[in-house]
Amino acid sequence: MDLKSFIRDIPDFPKPGIVFRDITTLLRDSQGLRYTIDTLKDKCDRLSPDYVVGMESRGFLFGVPLAYQLGCGFIPVRKPGKLPGQVIAAQYQLEYGSDRLEMHIDAMPPGSRVLIVDDLIATGGTAAATAQLVQEAQCHLVGFAFIIELKALGGRNQLPDVPIVTLIDYD
Ligand code: PRP
Ligand code: ADE
Ligand code: MG
Repeated sequence: MDLKSFIRDIPDFPKPGIVFRDITTLLRDSQGLRYTIDTLKDKCDRLSPDYVVGMESRGFLFGVPLAYQLGCGFIPVRKPGKLPGQVIAAQYQLEYGSDRLEMHIDAMPPGSRVLIVDDLIATGGTAAATAQLVQEAQCHLVGFAFIIELKALGGRNQLPDVPIVTLIDYD
């Protein structure tokens, strides 16, 4: 299936010069959605994660169904002030701004095998900050999975040396 054909390009969103790769047009297609989750599941199975960690908000859209298919639990990493328990936090840069991410300090038992899932990697700031949280929780990062990689931004160079699964590339 040509997954890229389901992604809609929106120029100059949210700022001039950014081409926004819109995944809502993939999510709304029943076959595209099923193929996306099933393919991620096949590619990530060998990593044998105990938990999928997904980042608010688009990481939730793919992380939960992938965790379900892998037979894992799902751990949300959220934007500041949203999680009710005690949190650990990491600062990060975006292609268009900066922000902070939080995870419950007791989200996973130390030593758990963790797969980090998001819709897209651009500069890698979001994924690198999430990897820091996983490390701070004394868990074992087994890999990353993204639907989309914006290769020109070199985000994968910001990440620890573990397997990176991607389904769609842009140069
Ligand atoms: C987008 C996207 C990734 C991140 C990638 O999230 O969903 O999480 O940017 O960029 P990076 O690799 O440069 O960090 P965004 O922060 O826009 O928020 P959203 O998921 O809530 O839409
Ligand atoms: N997140 C960061 N950069 C993005 C882009 N170009 N399209 C969609 N989401 C993004
Ligand atoms: Mg996001």
